[in-house]
Amino acid sequence: MRITIAGTGYVGLVAAVCLAVRGHDVVAVDREEIVRGLKEGKPGIWEPGLDKLLAEAIGSGRLAFGTDIARAAVHADALMIAVGTPSLADGSADMRQLRAAFGELMRARVCPKLVIVKSTVPIGTCEEWGTILRREGFDTEVAYNPEFMRQGSAIRDFLEPARIVLGCDSPAAAERLRRLYAAWNAPIHLCGRRSAEMIKYASNAFLATKLSFANMMADLCEGYGADIRDVVAGIGFDKRIGGDYMQAGVGYGGSCLPKDLQALQAAGRAVGCPLPLLDAAKQVNDRRIPALFDKLLAAWEELPRSGKRLTVFGLSFKPNTGDLREAPALAFLSMCLTHGIDVCAYDPVVRSIPLPGVQLASDPYEAAAASDAVAIMTEWPQLAALDWHRIASAMRTPVVLDGRNALPKDAIVRLLAASGARYVPTGHPASALRPTPALAGNM
Ligand SMILES: NC(=O)c1ccc[n+]([C@@H]2O[C@H](COP(=O)([O-])OP(=O)(O)OC[C@H]3O[C@@H](n4cnc5c(N)ncnc54)[C@H](O)[C@@H]3O)[C@@H](O)[C@H]2O)c1
Repeated sequence: MRITIAGTGYVGLVAAVCLAVRGHDVVAVDREEIVRGLKEGKPGIWEPGLDKLLAEAIGSGRLAFGTDIARAAVHADALMIAVGTPSLADGSADMRQLRAAFGELMRARVCPKLVIVKSTVPIGTCEEWGTILRREGFDTEVAYNPEFMRQGSAIRDFLEPARIVLGCDSPAAAERLRRLYAAWNAPIHLCGRRSAEMIKYASNAFLATKLSFANMMADLCEGYGADIRDVVAGIGFDKRIGGDYMQAGVGYGGSCLPKDLQALQAAGRAVGCPLPLLDAAKQVNDRRIPALFDKLLAAWEELPRSGKRLTVFGLSFKPNTGDLREAPALAFLSMCLTHGIDVCAYDPVVRSIPLPGVQLASDPYEAAAASDAVAIMTEWPQLAALDWHRIASAMRTPVVLDGRNALPKDAIVRLLAASGARYVPTGHPASALRPTPALAGNM
């Protein structure tokens, strides 16, 4: 099929590349400065394997880039919309990018028979735009096809999804959508557009709630000397619960969970439907960074408060991405700066951050030297493999806050072998040197 995609961020670019390698002819559209790099095979985002697959898709002649949606969509069988839908101040979704995309099409009097919305949008959006387009004389159906990819494994998630949700209200649209995914080997869940829109929000709200549950239990484990990793592994055997997405840590972040949870809360308010479970999930998450800060101060209890230096390891909201949107590390760094703590950070891929006052180091050992604490905020596997004895020995006060339980037993043993070293884990007693269970890769 000939597909035009509006937006080449994480979702749009991964979709464009994957649809092209699976045999569709794709033209992806974005702003001039973004498209310039893409034409040279340079993705503007860091996602494992994307540069290689982008080169392959461009080389096959099935992926091109442009800046004009209407021109790109003239001969398209379908237009896929993957623009951003960030939060407004009241938590509801900011629909300006989506409105701008539809506006460009309507002004140019161009619209393919099928528009597939991939962006996460409020319930009723596709119906509303379908009605507007029909009223304007377009013979177009607006369908909803939510995206469930996880940054860090986005390509595999797109090519091998757990399910494909297709929200549409006509057999003709359903048939076109099925053709789009004919080369995919995944269960197809066909439903109405409002249900499909709700599925996306409900998925993210559930995942956020699950993480907050694990974090709440982690606090209780600390109070009672239990180990959250053992607790999660133990309850995870029950298929009704499952151990995925239950890693205790510094809280969820990223461009989706916080925003989508808030959008669903706003949706509840709009129809007078209270959603107390979601309010609680957000409340638990909002407490993670202040609670980590309290742990830091507790670790420094015996020391003079002034002149302290903290190093943060890991800036992105999760490993294998360079994305800093709603990254807990940034919130922690801000809090430390506000309290007059000198801060420095190291991340394997992030090379700049929007926080003046934070020194960014390119070497983890240099970053940690002469620090009074290291806080692990992202469980990059590279961090676990560092020489933790060397790190602790070079620190002024060898305190390591493991906000993600990222260090394996041998790393902790080496760390504690340094004189005066202290290890502060999450949700289990510092004294219990147990290997981290294999729960990685669930974020
Ligand atoms: N990032 C994820 O992991 C993920 C996963 C599932 C769903 N989503 C949802 O998908 C949507 C996109 O997310 P993202 O992370 O890719 O966003 P993003 O901000 O990375 O990308 C959006 C892109 O759209 C472009 N754009 C905006 N208006 C445009 C227009 N009129 N024409 C062409 N391009 C335009 C922007 O320049 C930008 O490059 C959001 O609704 C998000 O909630 C994201």
